[in-house]
Amino acid sequence: MTLLRDHDLTAAFDRAAPAYDRLTAANPGHHAGLRRSARRLRLPEQGAGLRLLDLGCGTGASTRVLLEAAPRAHVTAVDASAGMLRRALAKPWPENVRFRHLTVEELAAGRAGEPYDAVFAAYLLRNVTDPDTVLTAVRALLRPGGRLAVHEYSLSGSPLHRALWTAVCRTVIVPAGTLTGDRDLYRHLWRSVLAFDSAPAFAARLARAGFSDVRTLPVAGWQTGVVHTFLAESGHRSGREDGR
Ligand SMILES: C[S@@+](CC[C@H](N)C(=O)[O-])C[C@H]1O[C@@H](n2cnc3c(N)ncnc32)[C@H](O)[C@@H]1O
Repeated sequence: MTLLRDHDLTAAFDRAAPAYDRLTAANPGHHAGLRRSARRLRLPEQGAGLRLLDLGCGTGASTRVLLEAAPRAHVTAVDASAGMLRRALAKPWPENVRFRHLTVEELAAGRAGEPYDAVFAAYLLRNVTDPDTVLTAVRALLRPGGRLAVHEYSLSGSPLHRALWTAVCRTVIVPAGTLTGDRDLYRHLWRSVLAFDSAPAFAARLARAGFSDVRTLPVAGWQTGVVHTFLAESGHRSGREDGR
């Protein structure tokens, strides 16, 4: 199966949007893992005065946990899929959250204005056509010393975790996605995880894109070894912050 990319992927998320929250709610530990990754950004003072970006916000689950971690921050949440965004917008949000219908590539190309203090990207980077270009652009969106947290299906590299992922997809994820009419998207999920970087390879990719202090942390439950949090800093500090 070829992986879904660009317009085909967005169209698949548009179609899957009505059932997305139900399917993820059925995944034990899904929201707890997301919440933990957002907290791992360790944003100070409940995010007061900070500008945060949620890339690939979907129906708003990642936006919600980012807001829980930093309720006083200004959060911009961006997604390519109008269908997913419609679901997000139907939920109640405080005034410090805004949603934008853009691809991450468009956002990066049109960058202007103040940089962001932190970026959260949950289940996004495995889906983009050119992750290196996107990561370089994300780094440019961050202020010097700004933080990135990536929450992603990225296998440990152990054959055991690869086999576990395929078993869960064959017995649960793809059958459940087939029931909601979204077989292609959930087969894409299965295959894209197998094709994507292992956790050590993705950490190396972050470093190659210029991020510093790259750390890889596990999540709990059945997703241990299957989903990881990757933390990094933008790595470009101003002369003053470098002590120069
Ligand atoms: C699996 S969902 C995750 C949504 C959300 N982050 C969450 O944790 O529930 C991935 C989202 O990324 C979006 N996406 C994929 N490629 C994108 C791109 N190039 N630019 C912006 N959004 C993209 C999809 O439309 C989809 O809503």
